[in-house]
Amino acid sequence: MSVGIFDSGLGGLTVWDAVTRRLPDLAVSYYGDNANAPYGVRTADDVHDLTQAAVTRMWEENDLVVLACNTASAAALRRMQEAGVPEGKRVLGVFVPLIEALTERGWGDNSPPREVAVNQVALFATPATVASRAFQRELSFRAVGVDVEAQACGGLVDAIEDGDMILAEALVRSHVDALKRKMPKPQAAILGCTHYPLVQEAFQAALGADVTVFSQADIVADSLSDYLSRRPAMATGGSARMLTTGDPARVSDRATQFLRRPLTFEAA
Ligand code: DGL
Repeated sequence: MSVGIFDSGLGGLTVWDAVTRRLPDLAVSYYGDNANAPYGVRTADDVHDLTQAAVTRMWEENDLVVLACNTASAAALRRMQEAGVPEGKRVLGVFVPLIEALTERGWGDNSPPREVAVNQVALFATPATVASRAFQRELSFRAVGVDVEAQACGGLVDAIEDGDMILAEALVRSHVDALKRKMPKPQAAILGCTHYPLVQEAFQAALGADVTVFSQADIVADSLSDYLSRRPAMATGGSARMLTTGDPARVSDRATQFLRRPLTFEAA
């Protein structure tokens, strides 16, 4: 079966793109819940219910679904896993691979939390992800003595979805300024939203060259490759489909502009 990548909208294409480049022989499907995006300003219950519905649909054609969306990973993943997933199905999120990279842990290293090289970390994410504190919770299982200052980047996803990169870059500068008022010298910055790699250079420029910026797409692709190498049956066969709950023609246009490669979506 194919592996499915889920996002609230177009941002998860950054992860889909990295995964298809990293694993060119894998059939990688995509599901964008564009009709209900953005998720980042919704309540946790709302995000959970929308994510559960989308993943249930994706399990019809994929044994493994990756929640590329940080907001869904933060607000819904744990609840879905605790409620139990159907036999033979899996759902994974994006926080754990990122935190493993930040804390220099190997895949699935569940040893007790320990001191790590970075101790001042800036997290940029949607309001819902920041409110969930899921990043801090997952980090506390793996590292001690790390200060995390989170900045909710209101408006940024909308500006990127609208293709207004001038506004997006201005918002990045103002959110970085706000973060630096709370934490003047972060050592590392986490771009905790699928859309933010599209303005990564603006984040790096505003933060300064001495701040290490962690962006998820390649980290998730590497981690998925590792995961599938242990479960080869999950990565066999299937055909890739691009699905959206939005208007397929409009989403196809935007997606093609986004990744600068032709993409055709069908109705979910
Ligand atoms: N894709 C979501 C994330 O990674 C952000 C977009 C949204 O708010 O729906 O957090």
